[in-house]
Amino acid sequence: FEAYRPEGYIDAVATAGGTGAVHIAIANYSEVGDDVLASDWRWGIYGSLCQEIGRRLTTFALLDESGAFNIESFSSAVADVLRKQDSLLIILNTPANNPTGFALSDQDWAEVLQVCRFHEKQGKRISILVDIAYIAYAGEKNEVRTFMKQFSNLPPHLFIMAAFSMSKGYTLYGQRAGALVGVSSSEDVIKEFTELGRYSARTSWSNVNRAAMTLLTTIRGDAALTKRLDEERMEFFRIIQQRASLFTEEAAQCGLRVIPYHAGFFISIPAANPQAVCEALQDELVFAAPLALGVRLGVCSVPLPKIKGLAAKIKKAVDK
Ligand SMILES: Cc1ncc(COP(=O)(O)O)c(C=O)c1O
Repeated sequence: FEAYRPEGYIDAVATAGGTGAVHIAIANYSEVGDDVLASDWRWGIYGSLCQEIGRRLTTFALLDESGAFNIESFSSAVADVLRKQDSLLIILNTPANNPTGFALSDQDWAEVLQVCRFHEKQGKRISILVDIAYIAYAGEKNEVRTFMKQFSNLPPHLFIMAAFSMSKGYTLYGQRAGALVGVSSSEDVIKEFTELGRYSARTSWSNVNRAAMTLLTTIRGDAALTKRLDEERMEFFRIIQQRASLFTEEAAQCGLRVIPYHAGFFISIPAANPQAVCEALQDELVFAAPLALGVRLGVCSVPLPKIKGLAAKIKKAVDK
């Protein structure tokens, strides 16, 4: 939370990466047969995580025509699901959304919470899982967390969780460490959350990697180390921003449509036939990932000199 720790009861459960955190949230805050809601532009694994334990992922449109957060689509999707369910788990991957780099603004968050408060008042139970996997590369650590203050003093049946991943922020991909963090105005809700979380952890993977947990507590307990880590992350953030700026500039010049990018590892390009675009790009030795709604480009792994001219190549492939 850094400077934007919400008021309320907060606790955390160590998980096997961000994936483990998402798994526990789905397992404990939705029922078998339920719909779980996420945006159409999303990390593909959410669907598999739901399906594996008998839930169904349903989606709303992340963006409206103007490229802003589509609160109307969000609001009507929430209402649709709550017509048939008494509780709902919503997954929002922001800031630095995978696959688009999009982020909800503080105003978007206020509107999301307003929609949820409305349904909570009608007797529904809503849990929001904020997947903050890439937050370390979204910008200055406090500026990108301002929205978290809005999680203060929410009604007891509007429960907030955050899925944290050490894979990204601590560059520890293989170590399988992360956390599910819960925030509530109710002490009982938080107690239940930790008990359920611990139980799920023990039955899914037992304890997580001790070395990774020790690394985190050592760094967080030492101001000088924390400062060094913050600096390293900002340097990575700047490198990715440079690449993304060049790409989006060239995309604008050649008329390639790009999903509004704020920060993060990925940029997405909408396409009618993503597989065909990716295959055409392979002829140019460009390797992008096909998604349901377009093509994902990993600016995290492409050096600046190779970004030059890339937008034009993608435009050619999309036109073809
Ligand atoms: C959006 C998103 N959430 C969560 C994760 C989970 O990462 P991990 O399990 O490696 O911590 C990823 C990894 O790619 C991701 O892209």
